[in-house]
Amino acid sequence: MRKPLVAGNWKMNKTSAQAVALAHELLPAIKNFDQVEKVVCPTFLSIPAVANVLKDSPIGVGAQDVYFEASGAHTGEVSPEMVKEFCQYVIIGHSERRARFGDTDEMVNKKVKAALAIGLTVIMCVGETLAENESGKTKEVVDRQMNEGLRGLSAEQMKNVVIAYEPVWAIGTGRAASAEGANAVIKDFIRPPMKAMFGDAVSQSVRVLYGGSVTGANASEFFAQPDIDGALVGGASLKPLDFTAIVQAASSR
Ligand code: 13P
Repeated sequence: MRKPLVAGNWKMNKTSAQAVALAHELLPAIKNFDQVEKVVCPTFLSIPAVANVLKDSPIGVGAQDVYFEASGAHTGEVSPEMVKEFCQYVIIGHSERRARFGDTDEMVNKKVKAALAIGLTVIMCVGETLAENESGKTKEVVDRQMNEGLRGLSAEQMKNVVIAYEPVWAIGTGRAASAEGANAVIKDFIRPPMKAMFGDAVSQSVRVLYGGSVTGANASEFFAQPDIDGALVGGASLKPLDFTAIVQAASSR
């Protein structure tokens, strides 16, 4: 039984004061859906204040990225230990980081290992671009991202890994993948490499989320699919009513 997880990726939105206000709105709205694991991922600067609002609550806090070195001369970066001080989760390999900030599969792998070593739960993102999708490369791309990103991990470490399938063309476009299409990619291209690397039990126990234009209106279609275990939500995670509807949809899965 895989417990559904709904994570809000707030991206580069909300000042610290605004993030605190959003956390205060979300807390009473979503705290009671016990069957669902709930996470919000504010910017680094807002994390301490949001974590303070959500402490002792059933809503986890995550970072949107982390660096792989422990400390030192890495201007602008944040270490796993610094993230762990306030967070239980970290998103790694988001397509926006890959496309705009140069995160390679090798860097993603280093970040995943460093985050796991410090005790964080990793939400590793994979997904193909529109051009890759249209040229029939989805399997090739997702398979490479899975194999390279998880290279060298143990089956034991996979207990703290969640995968998010986020087709790049569906992110922020209002053009979500079809639920059946997303489920097929997860079943055919995302679980099989995990089976090859870590065995069948691991491939069936790791949670795989869908991300890309998930809303309160379409979430239940995704959660009705057998291989989709929750959602990584961008835009709709900034809207308390929408995010609550998504958590609710996950709880009645
Ligand atoms: P949207 O929900 O805004 O499409 O963003 C998805 C996403 O990138 C979450 O990480």
